[in-house]
Amino acid sequence: MTSHTGRPDTDARPWLDASLPVEQRVDHLMAAMTLAEKVAQTHQVANIHPDDDAEQIRAGRISSSLYASGATAGNERDEGVLVGNIDAAQRHAVEGSRLGIPILFGRDVIHGHRTVFPIPLGLAASFDPELLEEAAAIAAREAAVDGVAWTFTPMVDISEEPRWGRVAESLGETPVLSGRLAAALVRGFQGPDPSDRDRLASCAKHFVGYGLAAGGRDYDTVSVGENTLRNLHLRPFKDAVDAGVTTVMASFNDVDGTPMHAHERLIREVLKDEWGFDGVVVADWNGIGQIVFQGVAADRREAAKLAIHAGVDLDMVSASYLDHLEELVESGEVDVALVDDAVRRVLRLKFRLGLFEHPYATREGASNAPTPQTRSVARRAAHASHVLVKNDGVLPLGEDAGRVLLSGPFVDDGDALLGTWVLDGRGEEVATPGDALRERLGHRVTVADGRFPDVTLMQARAADTSVLLLGEHRSRSGEAQSVVDIGLPPGQLELVRAVAAYGKPLVAVVYTGRPLDLSEVLDLADAVVVVWHPGIEAGPALADVLLGDVEPYGRLPMTFPLSTGHIPTSTHQRPTGRLIRADVDRKEGRYIDALTYPRLPFGRGLSYTTVEYGEPKLSDATLVGDDSVALSVTVTNTGDRPCREVVQLYFRDPVAQVTRPLVELSDWAVVELEPGAARDVLFDVRAEQFAYYGRDLAARVDDGAIELLTGPDAASLQSVTLTIQTA
Ligand code: GLC
Repeated sequence: MTSHTGRPDTDARPWLDASLPVEQRVDHLMAAMTLAEKVAQTHQVANIHPDDDAEQIRAGRISSSLYASGATAGNERDEGVLVGNIDAAQRHAVEGSRLGIPILFGRDVIHGHRTVFPIPLGLAASFDPELLEEAAAIAAREAAVDGVAWTFTPMVDISEEPRWGRVAESLGETPVLSGRLAAALVRGFQGPDPSDRDRLASCAKHFVGYGLAAGGRDYDTVSVGENTLRNLHLRPFKDAVDAGVTTVMASFNDVDGTPMHAHERLIREVLKDEWGFDGVVVADWNGIGQIVFQGVAADRREAAKLAIHAGVDLDMVSASYLDHLEELVESGEVDVALVDDAVRRVLRLKFRLGLFEHPYATREGASNAPTPQTRSVARRAAHASHVLVKNDGVLPLGEDAGRVLLSGPFVDDGDALLGTWVLDGRGEEVATPGDALRERLGHRVTVADGRFPDVTLMQARAADTSVLLLGEHRSRSGEAQSVVDIGLPPGQLELVRAVAAYGKPLVAVVYTGRPLDLSEVLDLADAVVVVWHPGIEAGPALADVLLGDVEPYGRLPMTFPLSTGHIPTSTHQRPTGRLIRADVDRKEGRYIDALTYPRLPFGRGLSYTTVEYGEPKLSDATLVGDDSVALSVTVTNTGDRPCREVVQLYFRDPVAQVTRPLVELSDWAVVELEPGAARDVLFDVRAEQFAYYGRDLAARVDDGAIELLTGPDAASLQSVTLTIQTA
C-alpha cells in the first residue's frame, strides 16, 4: 500500500517504516494480523505459479515458495527459476493481499548457480574458508538475479558413511573442518548485511544426525545419544549459528525414536533456547507430514501439533500447519504463543532480508551468466579440490609422457562433471577435460570416451601414457542415492587391470561424490587423483594439475576405507576395551578376515614435491587457565617443486569422562614453501580446543594430559604432551 506520495503509507502500515528496528516492525505487523494470516506465514509451497496460485497468494495464504524439481531435487533438472514468474507472484502478494507481506523464495543453490563450483565435499578438500566464502558470494549474486532470496545450504551433516549419497553435499567428517567452512559459506551467502540485493539467506541443514542413517540408507533411522550429538554432530551447526545463519532445516531422520520434526528437546531447548538461535527453523520436504509415516502421529493434525511444539516454524509443502494450526489454537491444544513465536521468526527474516523494501527481483540488464572472473574462481576452487593420493613419479606429465591417451566417460560430458544438486548450471557451459587436453597437448593426446573397452585397450597399447577418467556419475550421489558397494562402477576395475598389464605409465583420475574403495586402483595405477565432481572448470583445472602448471594441494575431507565391509572407518573412532592403540598402530583391527586401517586417511593429499615434518614443540609443557601456549612444528620442502602444505593439528584426550576420539582434528595451518624452504608453523593452543561434553552433558575441560599430534594427515602424526591446569 503506498500513499498518494508514492511512499509507503506508514500510518496505515507502520511496519513499512524501514527506520524502525526490526523487532518493532514485527510487533506492528503481528498486531495487525488475524490468526489465519499468522498461520499462513508458516506455510511454504513448492514451485508457486503466478496464475495458478494467484487466488491463494492474494488471500495471504502463502508465506514462501521453494523452487525445486522434486523431493529429491539433487539429480532431477527443472526448467530453472523464472524471475518474471517470481515477480508476478510477488506482485499479487505485495499489491494484492490485505497486508502486503512479501513471499520468500528459496532454492537449493548448493555449490553454485550458473557458475558451478566443485561439490561441497570437493570444496571441503581445499581446507580454505576464504575460497568458499568467495564462491558463495558469487553464487548468491547469480541466484539473486533469478529472484532467489534464500538458499538451503550449508549442509553440515557429519558422516563416516560413504554408502550414504549425501556425503557429497557435506563438508567432511570432522566438526572443526565442517564448522569453519560452514561459517565461511554463511558469510559468503549472507554477507555483512543479508538485505543486500546480491545476498541470500542461508540454511544450516539437516538438523541433526542425518549422517548417521542406519546402513548409510538415506532417510533411515538414527540411534545416537545426546553426548555423541554434542561432541560431534551439533558442533558445526553451532558454528553456523554463531556465524549468523538465518535459517536451520530440520532433518528427515528420527533420533533414538523421536522424529527430528517433533524433537522439542533438540530444536526448541538446545537450538533455540540454549544457543539463542532467533532465525527460522524450516521443515525439510514434507518433513512434518512424514511424522505420520514414522508412526509417531496418527494424522497431519497431530503431526502439526508435535512440530509446532518442537519449534519447527515453517512447514515445507506438507500443508499440515495451514490445514490444522488455526483449529488447534482455537481448540486450546496449541498455545497461540507457539504460533506467534514461529510467525515472528518468519517475519523477522523477511524484514532482515529487506523484502519489504525490495520485494521484486527483476533488474534491468542484470546477468548471471558465467564470466571470466567467476570462471577463474571456479578454476581455483577445482584446483583446490584435486587430491593427489598416489604418485610414483609419473606426474606431472612432461614431454617424456610421450603420446597420451585420455579416456573415459567424463572426457566431454559437461553435465556429468557438474555433480549432484545442480539446478541451474548448464552442461554445455562446462570446460571439459577433452577440450582442455586437446588444447594443451595437441596431436600428442588421443581423447576417447571409452565406450568400447576393447578400443580403449588398443588405444592404451598405442599410447605411451594412459590417463583413465574413472568414477561414478554425478547422479549416483546426492539425495536418495545410497549404495551397498562403494567400489567403482561395473567394468572400470577390469579396464584398469587390463591397461595396467601393459606396464606403461597409468594415471587414474577419479570422479566421485563419496569416498570409494580405491584399493586396487591404488595398487595398479602409477598415480591417482581424486577430483570429486569439479564443476564448470573441470577440464582446465585437471590439465593444470596433470601438466604441473598448478601443484595439487587438496586434502581428503573424509576417510577412504579399505572396502565397503570396513565402514565405518574414520577419525570418529574412539578407544574400546579391546581396540587399544597397539592394534590401531599395527593396523590389525577387529576383523579376522582382513586388516583394518584407513586406506586413505582423513587429511591425506600429496604434492609434486616432498615435505618433511619435525617434532612438534611447545612453548610451555603446561597450559594454565585461559592462557595459551604456542605449538611449533618445522615443515621443510625437501623436493624441487613448490607446495601448499596443509599442516594439521590433532589431539587425543587419554583420560576423560567419556570415550574420546583416538585422533580429533583441532586446527590446521596452510603454508606455501618454495623448494628447499623450511617454516616453523605455529599454532595457538588454548584449553577450550579440548572442551567436550561429559556424562552430565555439560561442557567441560579436564585437568591432565592432552596429546597433541601434528602431521600431513590423520595417520602420519608425531606427538607431544601438554598438561592442562584449568585453574
Ligand atoms: C530435499 C532435501 C533438502 C532440500 C529440500 C528442498 O528433500 O532433503 O536438503 O534443501 O528438499 O529441495
